[in-house]
Amino acid sequence: MPETMIQADGLVKIYKTKQTEVLALQGLDLTVEQGELTALIGNSGSGKSTFLNMIGGLDRPSAGSLVVGGKNLFTMTEKELVRYKRDTVGFVWQNNGRNLLPYLSALDNIMLPMYLSDVKKKRERAIELIEMVGLANKKNSRMNTLSGGEQQRIAIAIALANSPKLLLADEPTGSVDSATANYIFDIFTELNKAGQTIMIVTHDVALSKKVKRVVAIRDGKISSERILKESYAERLKESSIDWRLEDTQEEYVIMDKAGRVQIPKEILEVMGMKDNKIKLELQDGKVVISAPDKE
Ligand SMILES: Nc1ncnc2c1ncn2[C@@H]1O[C@H](COP(=O)(O)OP(=O)(O)O)[C@@H](O)[C@H]1O
Ligand SMILES: [Mg+2]
Repeated sequence: MPETMIQADGLVKIYKTKQTEVLALQGLDLTVEQGELTALIGNSGSGKSTFLNMIGGLDRPSAGSLVVGGKNLFTMTEKELVRYKRDTVGFVWQNNGRNLLPYLSALDNIMLPMYLSDVKKKRERAIELIEMVGLANKKNSRMNTLSGGEQQRIAIAIALANSPKLLLADEPTGSVDSATANYIFDIFTELNKAGQTIMIVTHDVALSKKVKRVVAIRDGKISSERILKESYAERLKESSIDWRLEDTQEEYVIMDKAGRVQIPKEILEVMGMKDNKIKLELQDGKVVISAPDKE
């Protein structure tokens, strides 16, 4: 039985500023098992980064519950949180400049987090990681001589330095060209095959079409999920396919714990809804939802 990696229940995050309060997460429920590769998609401002930051322990939730790798993000002390960020989660951002030391070599950058965490055989581990991201030939190059895409690959190696249970990536391919994006995505796929649990926020439609589980977030809640069809699982490396055009996944609407389902706006329009009353009938074991008969 796989261990549950992320368990979010009714998760709420409120950002308070002097003038206003922003409800960034509005009762988000999500369960992710160990070993899953999950993509998080959604419009700008829908709460993707907020959610990732909660999971990464960079910011505290306001209400609800959040348990990651058996650790409760609500009850954790500041000291436990520091250890959690160092050992349980690894984080990759869109622009990793702020986390890399420009005048150190790529290899030294990868070894840095290991000093905080008592990893044995730091150099061997760092070499293993730099090979994994395909940059062994750049191990002695100073960080500021590497391209953006190469820096991003080093950032992935750094995030993995302390063997985190969970790898989080917030739009890691957001500022690289599409060939590099594909290369980086393949690294995540290989890592996942080797057992790494990964959650990745992405805007890239072609990439999200190749993921086994895609979770869509809308207004701070999970609104729908797409699951990769069996027939595509074996074809992910086929480069002749235009992934943006393929219908690779089955789409599901999410029902919350109270049994509430949000009907997509496009469907409501087709139904010709006038007010807030709908007809709900059971027909042959299926629920049929329709606009009320016209009087
Ligand atoms: N530190 C902050 N202070 C105030 N509001 C914030 C802060 N961070 C995010 N928000 C707001 O919370 C909402 C969700 O933002 P975010 O999680 O960054 O969305 P996404 O990553 O999906 O684009 C937005 O309305 C955003 O403006
Ligand atoms: Mg964001």
